[in-house]
Amino acid sequence: MTPDTDPTSGHPDRLRAAFTTQSVTMEDAALGMAFTAGLDWLVDVIQPRADDLAVDLAGGTGLVARHLAGRVRSIVVVDVTEAMLRAGRRAAAAAGLATVGFVCGDATGSPLPSAAFSLAVSRFAMHHVPDPGALFDELLRLTRPGGRIVVKDLVAADDETVAQRHDALEILRDDSHLLMLRPGEAARALIARGATVTRVARRDLDRPLEPWLEQARTPAGRADQVRRALEEELGGGPPTGLRPHRRDGQLWFRHAWEATAATR
Ligand SMILES: C[S@@+](CC[C@H](N)C(=O)[O-])C[C@H]1O[C@@H](n2cnc3c(N)ncnc32)[C@H](O)[C@@H]1O
Repeated sequence: MTPDTDPTSGHPDRLRAAFTTQSVTMEDAALGMAFTAGLDWLVDVIQPRADDLAVDLAGGTGLVARHLAGRVRSIVVVDVTEAMLRAGRRAAAAAGLATVGFVCGDATGSPLPSAAFSLAVSRFAMHHVPDPGALFDELLRLTRPGGRIVVKDLVAADDETVAQRHDALEILRDDSHLLMLRPGEAARALIARGATVTRVARRDLDRPLEPWLEQARTPAGRADQVRRALEEELGGGPPTGLRPHRRDGQLWFRHAWEATAATR
C-alpha cells in the first residue's frame, strides 16, 4: 500500500488537526447533537456504580466523563488531542467537578496502570483508530477482573458495499475518520478477548445534514460531494448508508449507534 492509498498514512496529524478544530464545536448542541444527545441512553447501558473507578479512552472533552461524574467515584479521560483536553479541563473546573481527571495519551497504549479500573468506556472513537483491536486490548488491560467495559460507536450497514460508501462519505466530511465498526463487531472483539458480553443496544439518530458538516468544518467542495450523494440517493441513486430524507425542505440523515457492554 502506498502513502496515497493507505488511509492511515498521515493519520495522526489529520486526527489532531480535526479535533483541534472540533474542540470548539463539539459541545454546541445545535452542531454536535450526536455528542450531547443520548448521554442518558449511554448511562443506562453503562449502569455506573457509586464506587466505580472509571476510565474513558479517547474521551475528548470529557462529555461522557462529566456526565458520569456524579454517578461514579472518579473518572479519568485519556485523549491524544490537547485542545480537546484543554476544553474538557475548563468545563470540568467550571462545573466544580473534582473527580474528573484528564490525561494526554494514546488510547491504544495509555500510560495508566493495568487492572486499575472497575469501568472502562469509549465512545465515538473506534472509527478514528487505525487498529481498533489495540483499543479493545487497552480497554481490557485497564479493567480489573470482574470490571465492566462499554463501547459505543457509529455502526455501518450490514451490506458491505453500502458500508464502504458510507465510510467514504464520513471521510469526506472528516478526514480523520477511518472505518466504522460493522454491526456486532464490538461484541465479537470483546468475546475474542475473553470478556462476557452482557448487552448490545442499538439506536438511530435522525439529524439535519448541514450542522453535521458545519460541526466538522468540512471544506466546501467536500461538503458538496456529501450533499450530492444524498440527493442522488433520494433521486433513486445508490444507497449511501446515511439513509437521507427531507424535513421541512432540509436534507436529514440517520446514523446508527451501537453500544456494547461486557464484563471482564
Ligand atoms: C469524535 S471524538 C469523541 C470524543 C468523546 N469520546 C465523546 O464521545 O465525546 C473522538 C476523540 O478520539 C480521540 N482519539 C482518536 N484516536 C485516539 C487515540 N489513538 N488515542 C487517544 N485519543 C484518540 C480524538 O482526539 C477525539 O478527541
